[in-house]
Amino acid sequence: MDIKTISMHEHEDGERACMSRRQFLLAGGAVVTLAAVPGGLTFAAPLQALKADYPRTKIGSLSALKLGKPVAFAYPYPSVRNILVKLGAPAGAGVGKDGDVVAFNQQCTHMGGPLDGTYKEKHQALGPCPLHLTTFDLTRHGMVISGHGTESLPQIVLETQGDDIYAVGVLGLIWGYSANTAGRRA
Ligand code: FES
Repeated sequence: MDIKTISMHEHEDGERACMSRRQFLLAGGAVVTLAAVPGGLTFAAPLQALKADYPRTKIGSLSALKLGKPVAFAYPYPSVRNILVKLGAPAGAGVGKDGDVVAFNQQCTHMGGPLDGTYKEKHQALGPCPLHLTTFDLTRHGMVISGHGTESLPQIVLETQGDDIYAVGVLGLIWGYSANTAGRRA
C-alpha cells in the first residue's frame, strides 16, 4: 500500500502535528480515483493511505522481540497504547528482515474497546474486542476481519536503523480523537 504524507499544522504548543478528521476524510477521498478504459470497463486506481507524521521515537529493538509475543508501548502520546509484535508472517508495512514486525494501536475503532491482551498468534490478529467482538488482521494494515467495526486499526509506521526500531507516524485516526493530537477528543 502506498503511503502519502500530508502536511501538518503546528499547534500553539509548537510541538504537535495535527490532522483533523475532516482533513483526513477529504484527503482520503482525494486519492481514490476511478478511471475508464476503452471497452467500457472502469477500474479503481490504487488507494493511497494517509500518514500523520510524529517525532521519530525509538520503541524497541529487533533482537529483543520474541515471535508472537507483543510488547506494549505508548506513541505518539503517553495515553495512546500500542503493541509492537513480530508476527512470523509478512505484513503490510512490516519491517525487519522478514517484513513481519508491525505495530498497532490497541483501541478498537468501533467504540474504543480495549484490545489489550487479545493478540492471537495463530491468526496474526488482534481481538476479538470484549465489547462487540471486532477482530483485526495485523498482516493487512489492521483490516477488520469480523465484528461491528468498519475502520482498520491505526497502524504505527515503523522504521529500522540497525537493530533499533523507531516509530515515525500513525496510519489512520486513533479512536476518541477528532485529530491525531493529544487533548483533542471528539
Ligand atoms: S468497541 Fe470494539 S467492537 Fe465495539
